[in-house]
Parts: sequence; C-alpha cells; structure tokens
Amino acid sequence: MFQKDLLKGKRILITGGGTGLGKSIGQRFVELGASLTICGRRLEVLQKTAEEFREEFGAAVAVQQCDVRSADAVETMMNRIWQDGPLDILLNNAAGNFLAQTDKLSPRAIDSVLNIVLHGTAYCTVACGRRWIEAGRPGTVLSILTLSALQGAPFTVPSAMAKAGVLAMTKSLAVEWGPKGIRLVAVAPGPFPTEGAWKQLMPEDRSRDLEKGVPLRRVGRHEELANLCSFLVSDQAGYITGEAVVIDGGKRYLGGAGPSNMLDWTDEQWEQLRSRSRG
Ligand code: COA
Repeated sequence: MFQKDLLKGKRILITGGGTGLGKSIGQRFVELGASLTICGRRLEVLQKTAEEFREEFGAAVAVQQCDVRSADAVETMMNRIWQDGPLDILLNNAAGNFLAQTDKLSPRAIDSVLNIVLHGTAYCTVACGRRWIEAGRPGTVLSILTLSALQGAPFTVPSAMAKAGVLAMTKSLAVEWGPKGIRLVAVAPGPFPTEGAWKQLMPEDRSRDLEKGVPLRRVGRHEELANLCSFLVSDQAGYITGEAVVIDGGKRYLGGAGPSNMLDWTDEQWEQLRSRSRG
C-alpha cells in the first residue's frame, strides 16, 4: 500500500507500545522504516515485543519503562530519548478503561483512568512539543481516541471524558502550534479486538452480537488501523492537522439508521412494510 521507506529516518515514540493496538501500529511503523521507541509500565512486556520485532524485521527497537501518569517519569524518559536525538513523532496510545456503573465508581477509580488517558497524554504531548519548539523543529502528535470521544459512552464514562479532552487538545494545539510546524492528528477506532480491551470491555453477552452493531458487519483489522496511522504521521499527510479520523465500519452512524435489527430484515419484511404504508 505504501512506498517501503515511507517512515524512514523518523524517530517515533509509542506510549503503551508493548501490547495491543500500540504493538500492531509499531510493527507497521518498523516495516515502513521508522526508528521506534516503545514505552509502558512493564519492562519485561516491552522487552519481549522489542525482541519479536528484532527477530522478525531485524529492527532495533528501544524500550523505556515509564508510567505516563507521572509527569516526572515522562520528563525523565523524554530526556533519555533526546540524548540520542530528537523524536519526530509521538503516538499517544497508552490507555486504561473498564466497564462499570458510573455512580458506583470510587474517586480513585475515576482518577486512574483520567490520569492515564488525559493527564498522561497531556504530559507526553507537552514534553515533546516544548522540545520541538525550543529547537525550532517540526513534529507530529497522533493520539488514539475511541468513538466515545465523539459520542460519549455509558459505563465507560471516565474514558469517554478523557478521550474527549484529548480531542479538544488535538484541535487546540493544532492551531496554537501550527505556526511552529507541529501537527496534531487523531484517530477514533471502533471495535478492534485486543486482549486487554476485550478483557476489560467485552463480557460475553456484549461481544456475542458485536458485528451486528457495525454496518460493515465485522470488527476492524489491526493492519487497517496501522495503515491509517502510518499515513497520518507521514509527510504525505503534511497538510492535515486538528483532524480526528474515524475508522469504525460505519458504527457511529448506526444510531441514526433506526432499530439496528432492521439491518437483518428479509425482502418479505420490507415488502410487508411497503404494503402497509401504502394502505
Ligand atoms: N471496576 C471498578 N473499579 C475499578 C475497576 C473496575 N473494573 N478496576 C479498578 N478499579 C478501581 C480500583 O478499585 C481502585 O479504586 P479503590 O482504591 O477506590 O478501590 C482504582 O480503580 C485503581 O485501581 P488499581 O488496581 O490501583 O488500578 P491501576 O491504577 O493500577 O490500573 C486500571 C489502572 C484501573 C485502568 C487497570 O484496569 C489497568 O491497568 N488496565 C490495563 C490497561 C487497560 O485498561 N487496557 C484496556 C484499554 S481499553
């Protein structure tokens, strides 16, 4: 789909890059020639992913143990990364989420999600932006949202609030940092299965009819998301900023299409409706 060296020479940091979607996107970045650093809370998970990429693609992937909830830890990590040269691209991917009734959440439960998604993303973005601005360098920030940033999400309210905040950050900084040559973009994925997200968000009765909630009748493939991200961070997308691209098989618009079971109606059922309405 892309020229093989689309991201050659680009130094990229992916937060939460050891597992899930961050790992899949990182793999694509490496295939396209990027020089990748991944960070996360668990060093052994990061090292395992780096080892896999080394064996499969011959790529040296750097790892940084960092909990993005700590502004100090983020600063320390960025200083270490910058010692070997500046980043070109930041991918804000680290997230935490779980299903719960909102009225039953403890303050610590609310904080744990907001701290990772909203605060962690802000710490990483500002730490990179400040360094780019001080050096007079361009840069790109891509943030992974979810549909909840655009339309809310019951039972995952702290995550929806945090992702909506990240979207506001994307639009705001696209303007404030545009004159400095810094782009901010986002993607809002629909259902893309990962072990972590499915464990937290998909009890059996929720996942059973998942495809029925998507007009294209399937979940997303990781490579589809990874290709979109690759394009958005590449120089080919150099005039796109402040934009959140939805990749959801049409899920977002299903609410406006009436009862979703109408998608499964037979021709006979439609004919009956037609006859009824024409009297
Ligand atoms: N329902 C309700 N409350 C929950 C919860 C759940 N499923 N999971 C955690 N909490 C609460 C805890 O009870 C605690 O609050 P309390 O001290 O008042 O009891 C608070 O959240 C923090 O819990 P802790 O176990 O210390 O979490 P953490 O901060 O180490 O972990 C999470 C962060 C909560 C997001 C955790 O789920 C996590 O690390 N998840 C992995 C990443 C992930 O979520 N991936 C999927 C992304 S879609």
